[in-house]
Amino acid sequence: MYKAVFRPAGRGTPFFGCGQSWFKFYSSSGTLCQKSALNSPPTHLPEMPPCDFTPEEYKGISKDQMMQIRRQNCNPMTMKVTSYKRPVFVCQGHMQWLWDVDGKRYLDLFAGVATVSVGHCHPRVTEAAVKQLKTLWHTTNIYVYPTIHEYCEKLASYLPDPLKVIYLTNSGSEANDLAMMMARLHTGNYDIITFRNSYHGGSPQSLGLTSNAAYKFPTPGGFGCTNTMCPDVFRGIWGGSHCRDSPVQTIRECSCHKGVGGAVQYPRNYLKEAYKLVRERGGVCIADEVQTGFGRTGSHFWGFQGHE
Ligand SMILES: Cc1ncc(COP(=O)(O)O)c(C=O)c1O
Repeated sequence: MYKAVFRPAGRGTPFFGCGQSWFKFYSSSGTLCQKSALNSPPTHLPEMPPCDFTPEEYKGISKDQMMQIRRQNCNPMTMKVTSYKRPVFVCQGHMQWLWDVDGKRYLDLFAGVATVSVGHCHPRVTEAAVKQLKTLWHTTNIYVYPTIHEYCEKLASYLPDPLKVIYLTNSGSEANDLAMMMARLHTGNYDIITFRNSYHGGSPQSLGLTSNAAYKFPTPGGFGCTNTMCPDVFRGIWGGSHCRDSPVQTIRECSCHKGVGGAVQYPRNYLKEAYKLVRERGGVCIADEVQTGFGRTGSHFWGFQGHE
C-alpha cells in the first residue's frame, strides 16, 4: 500500500531554535544578505508595478506598542528573528502585495515564507474560508462530513498513481513526523537520510531530519537520522564548474527544491538515481513539499514530479 502525507500550503511560522545555548543565535543567510545590502544599497531600483487595490487605513496599536508586547509577551525567538534594522510592520495583504502600518506597499517576493502559493487573501480562497466558517468549524472523523471528502478527492486527483491516500495534518513538522512513522512501519527499517542544511520541522522527531545549526538544540534526539551531503550545483565541492549534470549552469535559472536552508536545484537525474538506490534496498522516498508543492516550482504541481 502506498500513502502520501500532504498538507495545504498555508501554514504557520516555522519554529526557530538555536545552536549552542538557548541564548545564542546564528544569523540566517537572509540577515547576512540584508547587511551587505545596507553597505552597498542598490541604486537603479525598478518602478513598482501599479496596483488597483486600496487597503484599509491602519488604526491599530502603535509600532512601539507592538515591539514592547513582542519583547515582553511573545516567545524570545520572535525578537531574534525580527528582520531588518527598522522592522517591517505589515498589517494587510492582497494577492502579491503587502502594506505596512504606514500604508507603504511592498511586492512580496517572499510569498509568506514561500508558503502562500496563491497570494495573500486571494478572493476565491477567502470566500471559501468564510463560507466554511459560517457553516461548520470542527467535527471529528467519527462523523462523515462532505467537504473533507471533496477536498481529499480533489487533492488526490493532483497526485500521480499510485499515490491516492491523503492524511491531513496541522503543520509540516507533524506531516514529517507521520511520514517517518509510516515509512518505518511500512519498511521495517529505522534509518532515515536527509540533506545537510535542510529544514524539515521543529518537532522532536522532525528535528532529526533538520540539519541546520540555527534550529538545533543541545539535547539528545534525531535517533536513526543521518544527514548527508547536499548536492548543490552552485556551491561546495560539486558546485559550479565541478558539476557535470547541473540543469542550471548554462541558463542560470533556478527553481527551488529546498526551502529554509536555501533554494537548491539538484543535479539532473540526481533524485531519480537516489530514489532508485533507496528503493532497491527496501526503503521508501518521502518528498517534503512544504515549499515546493501546490505548483510553486512553476512547472509541476509537486516538486518531485520535476525529477521523474
Ligand atoms: C521544507 C519544510 N518542511 C517542513 C517545515 C515545517 O513546517 P511547520 O513550520 O508547519 O511545522 C518547513 C517550514 O518552513 C519547511 O520549509
